[in-house]
Amino acid sequence: MQDKRGFRVIEPSVLYVGTPVYLVATRNPDGTTNLAPASSHFALGRTIVLGLEEGGQSLDNLRRHRELTVNFPEAQQWTHVERLAGVTGKDPVPDEKSGAYEFEPQKFERAGLSAIASDLVQVPRVAEAPLQIEARVRRITPSVDEIFGLVEAEVLRVHAATDITVDGTDHIDPQAWHPLIYAYRHFFDRGDEVGWTRKSPLAYPPPVISAWQVSGGSWQIISADELSASVELRRADGEIAEVVTLSDPKQTRWAQVQRAISGQ
Ligand SMILES: Cc1cc2nc3c(=O)[nH]c(=O)nc-3n(C[C@H](O)[C@H](O)[C@H](O)COP(=O)(O)O)c2cc1C
Repeated sequence: MQDKRGFRVIEPSVLYVGTPVYLVATRNPDGTTNLAPASSHFALGRTIVLGLEEGGQSLDNLRRHRELTVNFPEAQQWTHVERLAGVTGKDPVPDEKSGAYEFEPQKFERAGLSAIASDLVQVPRVAEAPLQIEARVRRITPSVDEIFGLVEAEVLRVHAATDITVDGTDHIDPQAWHPLIYAYRHFFDRGDEVGWTRKSPLAYPPPVISAWQVSGGSWQIISADELSASVELRRADGEIAEVVTLSDPKQTRWAQVQRAISGQ
């Protein structure tokens, strides 16, 4: 970390710090599907909260028909997203968008993407998106400036491409998953993994260490690099009982992360 970094006050035109892009599919009044790119969202347990603009077709549709799919493209699919950036499913195009947007009723075709039927909702998913969520609106709250609707939707089903999941589990493999990141109006792939939270289901301590911990002992990482790590197992009185050497890449990574977060 830099100790003394300079700062200045700025007035950025947007605050799109860097959020995964999604394609939200909603049902038009004539039964066809609207598809729009968006990035404002967060997840709280089984609820996904979307920030959608007032006057857009997507929000209008959700007020009428409360089902949706939220489809997360991967980074390399950004051009499909961008093909929808200048269109709206709203006819006529609202005044504030005129000149900059055109009406497009065939959003899937325009994006070069295909619709696939959902299991639990009438709105289809985006077949090419590796992560697809079927959801139902629980509440739409106007933002204080009334420019956006905050859509709280209950997640009903999650579909994940097999190659981004961990075999035999319900986990997404964070190494395999490359969401499309939207940061200050530019698209990015994610960077290298730099660490993980202790709650990651894929980052449990090596079994020998968790067993030691469960039996009341403590441990300390003595050294750790990509190839190998040494961990002291200590008894309750602080005596070193054993020094364990780790060489499995996942375990050495675990040791490196433990070292980094403990500041050793
Ligand atoms: C990368 C990207 C991110 C966007 N993020 C949002 C967003 O979070 N919320 C939103 O309402 N619109 C967002 N937009 C703009 C909408 O896609 C745009 O207003 C579109 O016309 C809405 O289509 P609709 O009227 O058919 O719903 C984003 C557009 C792009 C290209």
